[in-house]
Amino acid sequence: MNATRTLLEVSNLSVRYGKVHALTGASLAVPAGAIVTVIGANGAGKSTLLNAIMGALPVSGHAAGDVRYDAQALGGWPVERRVATGMSLVPEKRELFSSMSVEDNLLLGGFRRYRAGERGWRGTLDEVYALFPRLRERASQAAGTLSGGERQMLAVGRALMAKPSLLMLDEPSLGLAPRIVREIFHIIARLRDAGVSILLVEQNARAALQVADYGYVLETGEVVLEGPAASLATNPRVIESYLGLGKTGAGEGT
Ligand SMILES: Nc1ncnc2c1ncn2[C@@H]1O[C@H](COP(=O)(O)OP(=O)(O)O)[C@@H](O)[C@H]1O
Ligand SMILES: [Mg+2]
Repeated sequence: MNATRTLLEVSNLSVRYGKVHALTGASLAVPAGAIVTVIGANGAGKSTLLNAIMGALPVSGHAAGDVRYDAQALGGWPVERRVATGMSLVPEKRELFSSMSVEDNLLLGGFRRYRAGERGWRGTLDEVYALFPRLRERASQAAGTLSGGERQMLAVGRALMAKPSLLMLDEPSLGLAPRIVREIFHIIARLRDAGVSILLVEQNARAALQVADYGYVLETGEVVLEGPAASLATNPRVIESYLGLGKTGAGEGT
């Protein structure tokens, strides 16, 4: 693997919802094989950024700027085509099918590969169960009966069923207890080690900077700071605004 190849490149991306400017001229890059994080407070524009990259903005959202994936310009591509090229987004609202079983939710994640006639797509199920043994134990249980942490695991597992090369995660730590956050972030690191590139947006700056290779700080729609995650974690401005005592951003958690 060539670690210096840029997989995702976002240049001067702006998004507005009517008169509300949610993102202003944001630029960032995800090198192949890296975990890149974008940290920012509630309302900073993190979900807007991921949704714009995925081509999945609400109809009221208007984007300008350039998104390149594997050196291809994605302007105007529908979501399905972005998924087919290897991009996958786990949205903030996990969007699971509560009354369906855990395994059926996972299998749905592989539907595009099934439809494309890809052989062995079902085999990915075993890889997902190996990463998340808890999902295997609960395979036949309805998704709606899972705990918050297990639902997050299912949402990530379902995204992995598509065999993405870029996994984008919208605040995977939201509402989860610190122990579960550590478990999920440990798995994110394992995915990177298995060759999946990751773009992780988080309010939980502490956990995100621990796992990431490189980071960006987003404030009211603008990238105000960037650098290797380890140096951001010791940057006084980041410490003051995002890492101060109690500023885990993880919420109360359950
Ligand atoms: N569908 C929408 N319509 C109008 N404004 C929106 C919409 N979605 C988000 N916004 C606004 O855009 C800004 C960025 O929101 P968002 O991307 O959700 O931030 P974050 O994910 O960092 O919390 C906020 O000011 C928010 O109120
Ligand atoms: Mg958000």
